[in-house]
Amino acid sequence: MHLLDVAALGREGLEAILALSEAPDLGRPLAGQGVALVFQKPSARTRNSMEMAVVQLGGHPVYIQKDEVGLGVRESAEDVVRTLACYHAVVAARVKDHRDLERMAAVSPRPVLNMLSDRSHPLQALADLLTVKQLRGTVAGARIAYLGDGDNNVCRSLAEASLLLGAELTVASPQGYALTGVDGVRQTADPAEAVEGADFVYTDVWVSMGQDGEAEARTAALAPYQVDAALMARCPGARFLHCLPARRGEEVTDAVIEGPRSAVWRQAENRMHTARGALAWLMGARA
Ligand code: CP
Ligand code: NVA
Repeated sequence: MHLLDVAALGREGLEAILALSEAPDLGRPLAGQGVALVFQKPSARTRNSMEMAVVQLGGHPVYIQKDEVGLGVRESAEDVVRTLACYHAVVAARVKDHRDLERMAAVSPRPVLNMLSDRSHPLQALADLLTVKQLRGTVAGARIAYLGDGDNNVCRSLAEASLLLGAELTVASPQGYALTGVDGVRQTADPAEAVEGADFVYTDVWVSMGQDGEAEARTAALAPYQVDAALMARCPGARFLHCLPARRGEEVTDAVIEGPRSAVWRQAENRMHTARGALAWLMGARA
């Protein structure tokens, strides 16, 4: 069993992980075992939430920076994962190219966990939906408006999770930045239309890690999708969500992210609870 994408979990798997994430005591399924955390890109939330989740489950996290294993450079993705699987119960990786995760999962005798790729960010979507559940009571029927770069990892995983649990996601993005690869999500170019009646307004950076060369073009195209006070005034009941890190003054204003409707710190905390739920699930726990 691997966790590369939310869609592959199915509704049952996703609900099980969310339930495990809120369980008061999952025991020590990782007692005496390691979890490898391979990072090809920087991280604050994912590294720290995963390390603490491993500790809470009785295990030992090993943080591995990009040059140490040299995924695909010093050794092939296959040889890296087969080596790490000799020592660790789970091999988790943040990669530039999603295909490296697929190559690892194809040969790994241990679960492989996606900690963000160019395609998806399933651990983020788990925390996002747990936050929606906690703030609204249920996920089914929740109206979520995602504004900005629709064709990104966070949006794609949010869309997959929303479809599985019956949340109504609307993605608002300009031409060339629409969500791809997920069918059944409402898409529009109009940010005002997207937030109408929304329970949650979500955004992510306009320039993701590795896209710095496109920064100017992206910032120009996505500027009309900034989440500011005027936009939030169109949906008075909505809470604000962001995976973080945020570029204040770009995709979101200070007033919104610091405002009373912002739930970004609860979302960040939920990264640890859902990491714990996901790891327990990969170790065989079922809700
Ligand atoms: N949201 C998120 O994944 O943050 P990091 O990049 O800091 O891990
Ligand atoms: N879309 C962002 C998410 C960071 C958590 C990126 O890939 O940089």
